[in-house]
Amino acid sequence: MMAIKTVNALSHYTDWTIGHVHSGALGWVGLISIGALYYMIPRIVGKTQMYSKQAIDLHFWIATIGIVLYIAAMWIAGVMEGLMWRAVNDDGTLTNSFVESTKAAHPFYLVRLIGGALYLCGMLIMAWNTYKTLYGNKAILVAVPAEPIGAAAAAAA
Ligand code: HEM
Ligand code: HEM
Repeated sequence: MMAIKTVNALSHYTDWTIGHVHSGALGWVGLISIGALYYMIPRIVGKTQMYSKQAIDLHFWIATIGIVLYIAAMWIAGVMEGLMWRAVNDDGTLTNSFVESTKAAHPFYLVRLIGGALYLCGMLIMAWNTYKTLYGNKAILVAVPAEPIGAAAAAAA
């Protein structure tokens, strides 16, 4: 969309670009990297999977909801800013000052804050899961038989 000249005339300089950046940054770069780490981390310590698969699912959904809140807020703010900057009065003067568009974007920045906080929460869940995978081994006490038992004892007799 942003590569279309008439759309870019509206979206350029606005938060639409910021929403676009973070759909790529958080959705593509972030989630691909996180997924690769979830595959590699257990293998560093000779395991085949992370400590908790439910925590991975939870991380995925928290991150996804966070991304959607972030980029949807920036899309709406971006279109709004573009339209406010473009609006002119009958005498050719600008309808809105820049600071008015910044004030109008404020609620959307709060939604972005919630989205970013959710994404951060997902990373904290990952940190906990990584710790448990790397250091969560419990020692198990196994009694060592003093004498041959079962089939081994019968063979020895
Ligand atoms: C088909 C896919 C894509 C198209 C057509 C596209 C198109 C565009 C366009 C037209 C802009 C310039 C917007 C402006 O300055 O007004 C832009 C900016 C940007 N895009 Fe994309 N994009 C695509 C995918 C991605 C992906 C996957 C990422 C990240 C992984 C990404 C990262 C960025 C960044 C960081 C900027 C802003 C650069 C800056 O000015 O700071 N884009 N993109
Ligand atoms: C939840 C995590 C994140 C938050 C809350 C966040 C927040 C922000 C904010 C507030 C800006 C300034 C936007 C503006 O000028 O109005 C920004 C810019 C930017 N961020 Fe993030 N960011 C996050 C994660 C990431 C990640 C993971 C990447 C890359 C992989 C990234 C890449 C960028 C880029 C390229 C810009 C410059 C965009 C531009 O000016 O075109 N961000 N980020």
